[in-house]
Amino acid sequence: MAVEGRDSLLGVHPMIAPSILSADFARLAEEAAAVATPGEGTGGYPGADWLHVDVMDAHFVPNLTLGLPVVQSLRAATDIPLDCHLMIEDPDRWAPGYAEAGAKNVTVHVEAAHDPVMLARDLRAAGALAGLSIKPNTPLDPYVEVLKHYDTLLVMSVEPGFGGQSFMPEVLDKVRTARRLVDTGHLKLIVEIDGGINADTIEEAAEAGVDCFVAGSAVYGADDPARAVAALRESVRRSAPHRWAD
Ligand code: DX5
Ligand code: ZN
Repeated sequence: MAVEGRDSLLGVHPMIAPSILSADFARLAEEAAAVATPGEGTGGYPGADWLHVDVMDAHFVPNLTLGLPVVQSLRAATDIPLDCHLMIEDPDRWAPGYAEAGAKNVTVHVEAAHDPVMLARDLRAAGALAGLSIKPNTPLDPYVEVLKHYDTLLVMSVEPGFGGQSFMPEVLDKVRTARRLVDTGHLKLIVEIDGGINADTIEEAAEAGVDCFVAGSAVYGADDPARAVAALRESVRRSAPHRWAD
């Protein structure tokens, strides 16, 4: 079931996942709605694919955001699939709760997980896609076998913890490696990137082979967030047209 959910998303169109870290936390339902539906002049494209929800515990990262009760409330308030990025310690204990709450994809950090293979099983058993994230200085190669159990790979292109940081292009080598492993059939993953994605950086990420682009400040810092989503998607289509069916 979870795997079908992944396969039906691959190669359909570039996925855009606005991060609510840059939204107004007092108006989360409205902020979700602002990207869930296409705005005026967005070229007929659908709204955002996923809403990226950054959960931080002030231990794994030096920042504190929101947790399970907020995710449960968001789930009830919007139909847009939730992409929960858990920047927390001991995800083995806490992450399955987010899957049970109805998140579409639950991503844990490999640097924090004790038993990432078992954790992926737990996430899928609870009905979510299983995501694994790697920080900018964490290599990909040691985790290729582990990634066989996952549906998404989130490559961090900033140090996790804060929105609005500058994109680190050196992580694109890991994206290229992941793309190659997927295209040659060794892995089946949605390749996701997170951090510093905007109109200036999205094209090189697209050319490197990203499927799903998280963008916080570039979407919620724009006057019209829905239009910003459409513009980012259009940039991806332009820079990597061979990858997407019409
Ligand atoms: C950073 C978060 C990101 C963040 C991205 O730790 O994981 O999702 O919201 O924000 P921008 O797009 O502004 O870099
Ligand atoms: Zn994130």
